Amino acid sequence: MDMDQLKRQAAARALEEVRDGMQLGLGTGSTAKHFVELLGERVRAGLKVIGVPTSEATRADAVRCGVPLTTLDEIDHLDITVDGADEVDHELNLIKGGGGALLREKIVAAASDRMIVIADDSKWVATLGRFPLPVEVIPFGLGATRRAIEKAFAQSGVSGQMALRKAKDGHVFVTDGGHWILDAHLGRIEDPARLAVALSAIPGVVEHGLFIGLAGSAVLAGGEGIRVIER
Ligand code: A5P
Repeated sequence: MDMDQLKRQAAARALEEVRDGMQLGLGTGSTAKHFVELLGERVRAGLKVIGVPTSEATRADAVRCGVPLTTLDEIDHLDITVDGADEVDHELNLIKGGGGALLREKIVAAASDRMIVIADDSKWVATLGRFPLPVEVIPFGLGATRRAIEKAFAQSGVSGQMALRKAKDGHVFVTDGGHWILDAHLGRIEDPARLAVALSAIPGVVEHGLFIGLAGSAVLAGGEGIRVIER
């Protein structure tokens, strides 16, 4: 079975958790896009839900699929957020942000009663870090922010090169919030919670792709079937 089919299977399994009247966080990326498409089918069949998208790309997908949208200013909580991930460890800590939407993804996940991660099982890892960790930064003072991040890495027992993310056209990648992303190639992150705290304390760092303690469950689709892991 190809990867895309696995992603759709994980999305379909998460959709089983959705009930009439729910307020949903809508993730970003190729797996989350399957969820939005399948949710749209249910909405067209009569399901009443409302969603908050985590990116402009997801907003466009949701509109195309007929999923009604709102904002976190108009509602006071979300019941479930369904989102993909770049890596998931055995404690359901995540690396996210491969698609550049980590800031809105984290705000939406934190505003949700429950976050369900959907992924093909290649994302399941013993230790986070093989996927480059996205760190979203303010363009002003980038040199100083970069040095502070390197110091935080050393204090947290990790090391590696950082690269400013570029868009396909070769220009600097700009997030939906107007920020830049440094992708940190760390290899292994033995203590992701410690690194998350250190990065969050740096002026100039808007957000980072470590999602610690946010995911309540993970739906992982593989050749052997679907596994649901609860925290
Ligand atoms: C978007 O910024 C990311 O956090 C995505 O959720 C993550 O990159 C997973 O994307 P795929 O589902 O495309 O692998």
